[in-house]
Amino acid sequence: MAAAVSGGANRCDAIDRELATAYIARMAIRDILSIPDSKLRLVSEPVTAFDGDLKALIEDMFETMYDAPGIGLAAIQIGVPLRLITMDLGKKDEPKAPQVFINPEVVWASDEMGSYEEGCLSIPEYYEEVVRPAAVKVKYLDEAGKPREVEADGLLATCLQHEIDHINGVLFIDHISKLKREMVMKRFRKAAKRGGHPHPAREKKANVV
Ligand code: NI
Repeated sequence: MAAAVSGGANRCDAIDRELATAYIARMAIRDILSIPDSKLRLVSEPVTAFDGDLKALIEDMFETMYDAPGIGLAAIQIGVPLRLITMDLGKKDEPKAPQVFINPEVVWASDEMGSYEEGCLSIPEYYEEVVRPAAVKVKYLDEAGKPREVEADGLLATCLQHEIDHINGVLFIDHISKLKREMVMKRFRKAAKRGGHPHPAREKKANVV
């Protein structure tokens, strides 16, 4: 009898452990790829299945993005070549404002250009001014697969273009001078050989995507 009770308890423990493991597996901070990882140059595929796997991936992306910390993340930055972006442009002391953009596409861009100092979770601790259209209109699908459109300017316009670049295998350093880009790439290639990033840890900037 005691053995049976004990066995039962063990079974429950086993089930609980399984559920806990499944939960942890669903909500995981993933490794963020950094240059010169060639996966960052892949053109990502459209999302076609709006299922539990997609939901789990989106949860992981938010976990990873908030942990980094960053304000935007493309799925390819965690090695998943899907056209999927998470973003949160909420201020530090404001409630979280998570946004998901699936299969996003720039359908209009302003002639007026704007300049922002950009950073990227895949190019840690490197920041440079990038000139892009100041405003864009972006078509995308929400988490339920419903078509949506957003007209963006300011930081949202910059982030959307930066992240849409990611899903097309483009990095913000592609928009700076060749000389600066080659210097950055060289530094990261050297560091990768040593097995790390080129910069010592220092104060992190807020707007990293
Ligand atoms: Ni980035």
